[in-house]
Amino acid sequence: MALAGRFPQAWLDELRDRADIVQVVSRYVQLTPKGGRYWGLCPFHGEKTASFSVNPQRQMYYCFGCHAGGSAINFVMEMEHLEFRDAVKLLAEQVHMDLPEMVGGREDVVSRSEKERLYEANRQCARFFHSQLWKPENAQVLDYLHGRGVDDPTIRVFGLGSTPARSDGATRELLSQGFTEDELVSAGISVRREGRIYDMFRQRAIFPIIDAQGHVLGFGGRSLGDAKPKYLNTGDTPVFNKRLGVFAANLLKKQRGLRRVILVEGYMDVVALVQCGVVGVCATLGTALTLEQARLLKRYAPEIWVSYDGDAAGQHAILRALDIFDQEGVRARVLDFPDGMDPDEFIRAKGLSGFEALEPMDATTYRMKQEMNNFDLSTQEGRTAYAIACSKHLAKVREPVELENHVKRLMVATGFTREVLLAQIGRTEMIEKERQPMYRHAARPLEEKNEGVDTETAAAEKRLLQLLSEGRVEAGTVTADDFISPERRALAEKLLGGMTPGAILEEMTDETQRARAASVLMQDSGARGEEDLRMTGDCLRILHKKRIDERIAALQQEMAQQRGEDKRSTLLKIQELMKERQTAGRKE
Ligand code: UTP
Ligand code: MN
Repeated sequence: MALAGRFPQAWLDELRDRADIVQVVSRYVQLTPKGGRYWGLCPFHGEKTASFSVNPQRQMYYCFGCHAGGSAINFVMEMEHLEFRDAVKLLAEQVHMDLPEMVGGREDVVSRSEKERLYEANRQCARFFHSQLWKPENAQVLDYLHGRGVDDPTIRVFGLGSTPARSDGATRELLSQGFTEDELVSAGISVRREGRIYDMFRQRAIFPIIDAQGHVLGFGGRSLGDAKPKYLNTGDTPVFNKRLGVFAANLLKKQRGLRRVILVEGYMDVVALVQCGVVGVCATLGTALTLEQARLLKRYAPEIWVSYDGDAAGQHAILRALDIFDQEGVRARVLDFPDGMDPDEFIRAKGLSGFEALEPMDATTYRMKQEMNNFDLSTQEGRTAYAIACSKHLAKVREPVELENHVKRLMVATGFTREVLLAQIGRTEMIEKERQPMYRHAARPLEEKNEGVDTETAAAEKRLLQLLSEGRVEAGTVTADDFISPERRALAEKLLGGMTPGAILEEMTDETQRARAASVLMQDSGARGEEDLRMTGDCLRILHKKRIDERIAALQQEMAQQRGEDKRSTLLKIQELMKERQTAGRKE
């Protein structure tokens, strides 16, 4: 759950220090020491020889194979599928550090221990509901679930439950366990009415909502018949915000290496799919997909398959979800169910094999298909408008081969030629655009944008950064201004400011940039013993020369436009710079 504010930098430094990246990584990866660092098999991509390395002094990890890199906090985020804040909390717990006052935001209204109490109340409440399910007096709830095809093992997997017969049964139970009325109301378990306190959920089948860390956040309660509302959900509480989580996050987390996540709309859809053997399923909690949820889901798999109801509302929700996933840079596909069925109905009718035979549709194909409903393709006007609408979607397709397939279909549907459609799409501009790395777990590309830096200077700058990371540069010898590339100058500034490479990487949210920085900061300068001084000097000289070269080149351009006295004076300047360049090249 989100808190306002940021963690103070000094506190984070201490956390990284105390947590010790080698220990953190060792919980997941077997590490072997070699050459001042540790090596193991990369947990982020399949490999047989170790290219994943941890450097305790620099407090960072880096995989020479897939270029994943970062601090201990980044590592926990990746492994546990956590947001930064939650990874920090987890690490803090492990090393027994108290959470600090947040900077730049109001302190959470509810303290950590109060939240723990609410989690505990929810947990006990879930246990209570579950135990009620087997009582004869609540047989109609069990019958309802059985009647919908839910078997007992599945009931246990999800911890499904029943409300008790008494209208204040859960409230009384939890009061007897020592929770206060205020706590129960705050958790959304109980409600006060006319001076009395009752259970929030009555005569319902209960679906506990559990997050990836196993906290019970709240409940969904299904009415047994047609009573409204069909589902009653815990409202916003200090530990629950339905915009931030998904139902069945606890199960999702247990699945490693998922190829795709299946996102459905309803509690029952998740339950039915899981019972039939589908893995990696979760549901939004009765609201339209949010950016936060999209961000959470992309931690679990490289693709999301949106599997909403086949009715009109579902179709509309799919388009909105696809836009959200686009915004988050997540690859999404659509599972389209026939005859307005929802996934629950579909898998009960067609079984697991029927479900697995469904072909997920890529987002663009789905959007184009939906656009068909908006136009009358029997008229030229309608076909033209349809072609224009589809071209907007196609302008976002990056892969030429994918584009080609879509264009072919659009040609057939509209009768326009390939050239006309490509012009409408604006294909030339699109193909020249650099392909953004969008997907997690794909190797991150490292190539640099052309920053006007040649290989020798780039190498010198990298070497300097490595010397700085190793603490081999005497104070005052190197400054950030010695760097020509803005990106590396920024890195130098931070290293000179005393940040560890791990901390620097942690600040980078752009994965490509982080991969590039990690690859530089992880490598050794190769300097042995006394060599560092000489190496530093060599690098500085290369950069100095490079800057002179740039000035000479600029003056030469100027000179080409000049005549007479001006030209002569520019020439003189150039000659001076040439001399300076020679001295710069010589070792002192
Ligand atoms: P649906 O109406 O599609 O329900 O709502 P469903 O999952 O198919 O339910 P069954 O099969 O009739 O039991 C989809 C989801 O929207 C939320 C719930 O999360 C539900 O699972 N919802 C729906 C509510 O929160 N409240 C409602 O009253 C209805
Ligand atoms: Mn349903």
